[in-house]
Amino acid sequence: MSDAPVVDELTPPERTLMGPGPSDVNPRVLRAMSTPLVGHLDPSFIEIMNEVQELLRYTFRTDNQWTIPISGTGSASMEAAIGNLVEPGDTMLVPTNGYFGGRMESMAERAGGEVVHVDAPWGEPLDPADVRAAFDEHQPDVFGFVHAETSTGVRQPDVPELTRIAREHDAYVIADAVTSLGGVELRVDEWGIDVAYSGPQKCLSCPPGASPLTLNDRAMEKVLNREEPARSWYLDLSLLEGYWGDDRSYHHTAPITNVYALREALRLVAEEGIEERWDRHLHVAGALKAGVEAMGLEMNAPDEYWLPSLNAVRVPDGVDDGEVIGYLLEEYDLEIAGGLGDLAGEIFRIGCMGHSARPKNVNYLLSTLGDALDAQGATVDVDAGIAAMGERLAD
Ligand SMILES: Cc1ncc(COP(=O)(O)O)c(C=O)c1O
Repeated sequence: MSDAPVVDELTPPERTLMGPGPSDVNPRVLRAMSTPLVGHLDPSFIEIMNEVQELLRYTFRTDNQWTIPISGTGSASMEAAIGNLVEPGDTMLVPTNGYFGGRMESMAERAGGEVVHVDAPWGEPLDPADVRAAFDEHQPDVFGFVHAETSTGVRQPDVPELTRIAREHDAYVIADAVTSLGGVELRVDEWGIDVAYSGPQKCLSCPPGASPLTLNDRAMEKVLNREEPARSWYLDLSLLEGYWGDDRSYHHTAPITNVYALREALRLVAEEGIEERWDRHLHVAGALKAGVEAMGLEMNAPDEYWLPSLNAVRVPDGVDDGEVIGYLLEEYDLEIAGGLGDLAGEIFRIGCMGHSARPKNVNYLLSTLGDALDAQGATVDVDAGIAAMGERLAD
């Protein structure tokens, strides 16, 4: 008797993905992933790498030569940014207003940095006055902030003001753009951001695996003049320069299929136009927001820092968020998520990203969420929600 396991052919459920990521993938991206492999040093792949870099520069709104996909998920591009820029003994200023500031802190510590904080409650952005005070007190070498905090649905406004403060103190700025790139206005060069990283599975609607990163010359100069090498061999940008720079020599085997996918996802961005894409997210997520509010629900973030790609909606009193999330998945194949950390049990996190940011998805979300809340005994007016959504979409 054979001891080989018998496993059925893969038939995952067909979900509608409106959680914090991944988002629904455009069929064109899936088709690109089923095209034949070439070698990672094949001349045709070198051409594909160049195209991906050019498309990434367009999407980040940057001329940075150093704009590449890092092999791995968003945490890999995040660790490439922090692990290369922060040298042992450097001080990094990180925010405390969400889950991902905490991850920045862990990575900076592992890089040998000393971490200091700028505080704001979960669910609120950083106040530039607090950032200035933290700079005056600690004189950090590197400042990290989260442009689109996926854990709280908060968009950090005033980015040029934050980067100006850092520049005045001769510090480098790292922006987490995982949930903003390709969906929410982000202008790396104009806003004075030195390093920005992202992930492909949010507003780019691409499977995870190759994650965008960009560094300006000033940041790259610091990286290339480090006294000791970055602690991760795999993510060492001075070594990756051999592959993504002029030489195109082997460092590690690139995830070829993920690079194909990213190329197609970025081609979709360029075809739509980056500013038009930001507008679409605002428009469609605006209809989602109008719909949930008209249903009788409350957004967690006020309009000034509402994040269109991730809508944090307050869980109504007496409702168990886990029951609602489970019901939506079981009955409607619809994925949304609950809150994390200080906001656990308090909010639903509803993504409106990339290919998921379509009227069809918003309509489905409003009607099914209404049903799930009704099943939990909450009073919601779904008809009013759908009507408000329709009005906003017609604007
Ligand atoms: C703001 C932010 N930063 C970093 C990450 C880490 O990305 P990944 O889970 O792809 O490693 C995420 C993932 O959700 C995120 O939302």
